[in-house]
Amino acid sequence: MAFNLLHKDIETLTCPALVVFSKSSSQKDKPGKVTHSELNKRLAGSLEDKAITGKHQETVTFRELNYKGFRHVIVVGLGKENEITHESVRQSVAAAFEAIKASGVKEAALHFEGITTGKKDAADFAKATAEGLILTSYVFNELMSSKKEEKEIDVHVVTKLATDKAIKAAFNEGVVLGTCTNFSRRLGDMPANYMTPTILANTAVDAAKGTGIKVTVWDKARIKKEKMGGLLGVSNGSAQEPRFIIMEYKGAAASKKPVVFVGKGLTFDCGGISIKPSAGMEEMKYDMCGGANVIGTLLAIAKLKLKINAVGLVASTENLVGPEATKPGDVHTARNGKTFEVNNTDAEGRLILADALSYATELNPQVIIDAATLTGAIVVALGNTHTGYFTRNSALKNKVEKAAGESGEWVWNMPLCDFHVKDMKGTYADLSNMSYSKGAGSATAAAFLEQFVGEGIPWAHFDIAGTGWAVGNRLPYCPKKGASGAMLRTFVELAKLHA
Ligand code: BES
Ligand code: ZN
Ligand code: ZN
Repeated sequence: MAFNLLHKDIETLTCPALVVFSKSSSQKDKPGKVTHSELNKRLAGSLEDKAITGKHQETVTFRELNYKGFRHVIVVGLGKENEITHESVRQSVAAAFEAIKASGVKEAALHFEGITTGKKDAADFAKATAEGLILTSYVFNELMSSKKEEKEIDVHVVTKLATDKAIKAAFNEGVVLGTCTNFSRRLGDMPANYMTPTILANTAVDAAKGTGIKVTVWDKARIKKEKMGGLLGVSNGSAQEPRFIIMEYKGAAASKKPVVFVGKGLTFDCGGISIKPSAGMEEMKYDMCGGANVIGTLLAIAKLKLKINAVGLVASTENLVGPEATKPGDVHTARNGKTFEVNNTDAEGRLILADALSYATELNPQVIIDAATLTGAIVVALGNTHTGYFTRNSALKNKVEKAAGESGEWVWNMPLCDFHVKDMKGTYADLSNMSYSKGAGSATAAAFLEQFVGEGIPWAHFDIAGTGWAVGNRLPYCPKKGASGAMLRTFVELAKLHA
């Protein structure tokens, strides 16, 4: 697949397919319009007949229309003029890509001027267009013995604005964010036998080559030496060694405090001795999506050369039931010296994050942001629409809302208070890894994590258990079943807000 910004008068191009856009009328029963003026005239009958309505994400393909140098013309709905946002553009472009694919062509030209309502939004829309194309082009079929011939499709985003510096930069940013998200999605989609902690760490090392990111990987012996009792305890039941991945990017003066991202990298979670039911257990290969998306975030930050210092920390292990597995009631000691009882071995994400957050605290960070497929309770609370996030820092909350607004990802601020902390007190150790109070399972998990974040450090925790995969029912640029790459784009925006 190749997607490029092309500075050309679109009318002079020769290409198998042309994508133009349509808008629906704000007045009921009035026909929509095609935003390409000549085609608006040529397709007047279809507009009158409501074959083209301009409805958001509607696609109508006119095969063999033979308009100028184009054989086929695809009309893609943007919705009502006053409802067009960068996110609605991302979705319309996703629909455009699917229509291009369905039409069977290998090359298409996209009439970008038909999207922009003015130069004001053009940069945002150029970024969204690049993201929409790249995110939608993602397929995961590398484990099929007979790969379905995936067509390589080139899409030229044609605009007279292509030489504008801001538009070029925005399009490039969209390309980087889309590509890094697809990279993270692949890590998530890989089954656990192909994506062990060791493979995850090696993949991060390989991907970082040439980006300026320094990657350090701690093996089991080092993890032990570093007193990461949570990560070790969870890994006890597995034949695979755990890994602790440290990615460091330096884009600012050494004196500038780093933005530290932390990810849960559970390459498979069967629940441990507190074993999960079999139905749906195969989905627990996605329990490393927080880690995968943190790796992708660091890659994107480096590729965009953001003027910040950033660190990505991924604690990675399997949670299985081998003879050495942690038993319910066992007590372990986290890196910061706090002890915890493991009253449910399936609440393991918080145990490995405890060590990672303790380590993050030692880096004297400007802010700590973590992503984890942490609780089933967040899925009950928010389904797969919003990522629930927790922070007690109001300035950071504002930044999160701003960043999510920029990325188009949906987030929802969840409560975290001292009552949740009280629920996590242990009987025989400092803490218990599960609450015996009813409900608020995501908040009590967050309260547990908070015990490992240094006093006064702005910290936000993102529970992506609901949004980490299988969100394609609502987002046309995400796979129906596979990993979504949730929060990667928001995290890059958050990083920018800490420059
Ligand atoms: N990885 C799971 C959380 C999860 C559940 C992610 C469903 C995605 C979909 C996590 O390790 C877990 O099992 N959490 C337990 C905690 C409980 C035992 C306190 C849960 O949510 O049930
Ligand atoms: Zn679990
Ligand atoms: Zn888990």
